[in-house]
Amino acid sequence: MLLEGAPVAKRIYSEIKDQMIRFEAKKPKLVLYCSHPDDSTQSYMRSIVKRGEKLDIPVEVIEATEKPFEQIMQLNEDPAVSGIMIMHPLKGIDEDIVIKSISPLKDVEGRGPTNLGGIVMGEGYYAPPTAEAVIEILKFYNIAIRGKDITILGRSTTVGKPLSLLFLKKGIDGTVTVCHSRTHGIQEKSRAADILVSAVGKTGFVREDWVKEGAVVIDVGINLVDGKIVGDVDFENVKEKTIAITPVPGGVGTVTTAILFRHLVESFKRILDGGI
Ligand SMILES: NC(=O)c1ccc[n+]([C@@H]2O[C@H](COP(=O)([O-])OP(=O)(O)OC[C@H]3O[C@@H](n4cnc5c(N)ncnc54)[C@H](OP(=O)(O)O)[C@@H]3O)[C@@H](O)[C@H]2O)c1
Repeated sequence: MLLEGAPVAKRIYSEIKDQMIRFEAKKPKLVLYCSHPDDSTQSYMRSIVKRGEKLDIPVEVIEATEKPFEQIMQLNEDPAVSGIMIMHPLKGIDEDIVIKSISPLKDVEGRGPTNLGGIVMGEGYYAPPTAEAVIEILKFYNIAIRGKDITILGRSTTVGKPLSLLFLKKGIDGTVTVCHSRTHGIQEKSRAADILVSAVGKTGFVREDWVKEGAVVIDVGINLVDGKIVGDVDFENVKEKTIAITPVPGGVGTVTTAILFRHLVESFKRILDGGI
């Protein structure tokens, strides 16, 4: 089975549109905060602006000044702003400090300590959209997670680590192994997985002999090769061994953007309810 992101995203966008009708004239607004964005960041920002247009949700791009902290504070206090997304990398600015200064309510990417800690405590507003997208895809396609052995390749704060915690949540009930660049026996650990997730950022990293017969493979990687986007998984050879696999492009990334907008609408509702 090909786990395409489009039908999953379509359902999320349709839920968002239903909610937008109920808001009538009021609208959420997303701010993309950037500092000297490179070509790929600019293209990512354009795709988010375009998606906003389709949903009738304004998306504003704000360039960092020499006073980023003050800018973020202003955005935090502005009731018209529902979400703030920091466009990585923020050139010339300490990105960590900027992220930590975003109000947890408007941190729709779930990158700050309150939302990340909330995944452990079950009290946060938002998990990082990419991590949530992986779970959303598995649920959408009715792939069982409970009791399964899951191996995640990559331990970043935006993908691998939060995803491991989402899999561990009560009710989701996966058993998780997280691998990184210092892991011994990564191939064996990958081959032991019922569900293998790769978030490494290296083309062809997951080969056929890394995958158990009948496994589910989720490819989070986005790599540019000769102007084309490819994942971490050697898709053509690996797919034969799997019962389900995500394509790249058209898999996790498609759902990630949809979840970002879902978080934005949730933030908008919370602010309307006086949560700011
Ligand atoms: N589809 C989406 O929506 C989406 C969203 C975000 C990111 N991505 C893509 O996902 C990939 C990962 O992104 P990220 O932000 O998590 O990247 P990252 O911060 O660079 O993390 C990469 C992880 O891979 C590990 N790694 C690197 N080389 C390895 C090796 N040889 N063996 C084992 N582990 C290795 C690193 O280990 P160490 O920690 O030891 O360095 C690190 O934990 C990228 O391709 C990115 O473009 C996709």
